[in-house]
Amino acid sequence: MTETTDVDLPDDLTMGFATAAWQIEGSVASRGRSIWDDFADTPGKVKDGVTGEPATDHVRRMEEDLDLLAWLGVDAYRFSVSWPRVLPTGRGEVSESGLGFYDRLVDGLVARGIKPVATLYHWDYPSALHATTPWHDRGSVTAFADYAEVVARRLGDRVDRWATLNEPWCTAFLGFASGVHAPGETDPARALAVAYHLMLAHGLAVERLRGLGVPNLGIAPNIVPIHAEDEESEHAASVVDGLQNAFWLDLLGGRGVPEHVMAATRQFTDWSFVRDEDLPVIAAPIDWIGENYYTVMRVKAGPGSAEGTVGQDAAMFPGAGEIHFRPRGELTDMGWEVVPAGFTEALLRIARDLPGVDIMVTENGIATGEVVDADGVHDPARIDYYRRHLAALLDARAQGAPVIGYLGWSLLDNLEWAEAWRMRFGIVRVDTETQQRTPKDSAHWWRGQLAARRAR
Ligand code: FCB
Repeated sequence: MTETTDVDLPDDLTMGFATAAWQIEGSVASRGRSIWDDFADTPGKVKDGVTGEPATDHVRRMEEDLDLLAWLGVDAYRFSVSWPRVLPTGRGEVSESGLGFYDRLVDGLVARGIKPVATLYHWDYPSALHATTPWHDRGSVTAFADYAEVVARRLGDRVDRWATLNEPWCTAFLGFASGVHAPGETDPARALAVAYHLMLAHGLAVERLRGLGVPNLGIAPNIVPIHAEDEESEHAASVVDGLQNAFWLDLLGGRGVPEHVMAATRQFTDWSFVRDEDLPVIAAPIDWIGENYYTVMRVKAGPGSAEGTVGQDAAMFPGAGEIHFRPRGELTDMGWEVVPAGFTEALLRIARDLPGVDIMVTENGIATGEVVDADGVHDPARIDYYRRHLAALLDARAQGAPVIGYLGWSLLDNLEWAEAWRMRFGIVRVDTETQQRTPKDSAHWWRGQLAARRAR
C-alpha cells in the first residue's frame, strides 16, 4: 500500500458522506413499491436472495444515524428521497407519513448544523408508474417533474442543495441494456430512449424548482475516464466515452446528443423521440454538477472479459461493438482499478465541458476487506483510498477545476444493489443481524481530519 501523508483539507471544501434510500431505509411496507423491490423479488437478480427489507433499518434508526454524522463532524449529508415513499403509485396522492419522514430527516440535519443535500432520484422508480409509464415513455418526464415539485415545496426551505438524478447512465444502461440493475431489461433501443427522457426529466424538474425559487440545483452523473488500450480500440473507446460521458455533458451544455453517439447507435434507434424544442429544457442552467468517481475504464476492442469485475461489460455500451475492459494492478472488491489520477482527470473533464459550473463530488469510496477484532474494525485500504483521492481532488483544484465539495460513499455499509451485502462501502460497519453500527478505523480517521481542520 502506498504511504501518503494526511491531506490538508481546505476550509472552503464542503465535506460529508452520502447514502441512497433503497440501500439503507428498509421499512418497505410503509411505502409504495419500486422497481428495485420487484427486481429483488425475482430469483437470481439480487445476490443471496436479499431484498430491501430491512436494509440498514435507517427509517427506524434515523436519529442514531444523524448522531453518527454529527459525531463525525461533517458539513453536509447527501441522502436520496424515495419517490414511492412520497407518492406510493408515482403520482397523485401524497403519503403524508412518507414526506413527513424526510421532513424530520432534514430538520434533524439542520438541528445538528449539517447541510442537507437531497437527491430526488436514486434508482427506485415506482413500480405502479413503471407498469404504465416507464422511463422510455415521454410521460415519465412530467411525472418526475411533478414529484420533484411535491418534494421541493415541502423541503425547499431547508435543503441546501438538490440533485435531480443520480448516475443516469446506470439507470439507462445497467437497467435497460445490460439488465444487471432494475428493471433488468436488455433492450438497447429502450436504454437509449431512457437516457434521453431522463435528461428531459432532469431539465423540466430544474425549470419547475427554479420557478419555486429553490436554490442550488444540480445533477450527479458518473463521469468515467475512458482509455483505449491501443489504436484499434480507439473507435470503440470513443463510443464508450460518448455514452458514458459526452451524452450527459453535451446535453447539459446545450450541445444536444453527440453526433458520434447517434451514428454508432442508428442500428438500434432512429432517435425520433428527440425534439428540437426539448434541447433548451434539458440545458436549463444548473448551479452545480455532481461527480461520482470510483475508477477508470480501459477499453479493448475484440472478445474477452474481465472476470470478477462488477459493472464493466460490453452490453452496457450499445454501438461500441465487441469490446472488453482491462482493469489491472490494484483492484477493489468490486474489481475496480484504483486510479486516483483518473479522479483528477474526470474533474478536469467536467470543468472543460461545462465551464463555469461548480463541481461537487457526490460519491467516492471503496469496497474492501476489513478485520474485526476486540479493538475495532480495521480497514487501512479504505483510509489509503480516501487519502489518495483527496490529494487527486486537490490536484484538480490546483489545475482550475471549481470543486466545492466532497461527499464520500458511504456513511454506512449498505445494500450494494445487485451485490447486496457482499460489497461493503461504509466507513461505519453495519452488523446485518443486529443492525449495530460500529465506526471503522476509516470513520475515526475522517473524524480526525475534520476535527484538525476545525482546530486550525
Ligand atoms: C454508485 C451508486 C451508489 C453506490 C456506489 C458504489 O454507482 O450511485 O448507490 O452503489 O456506486
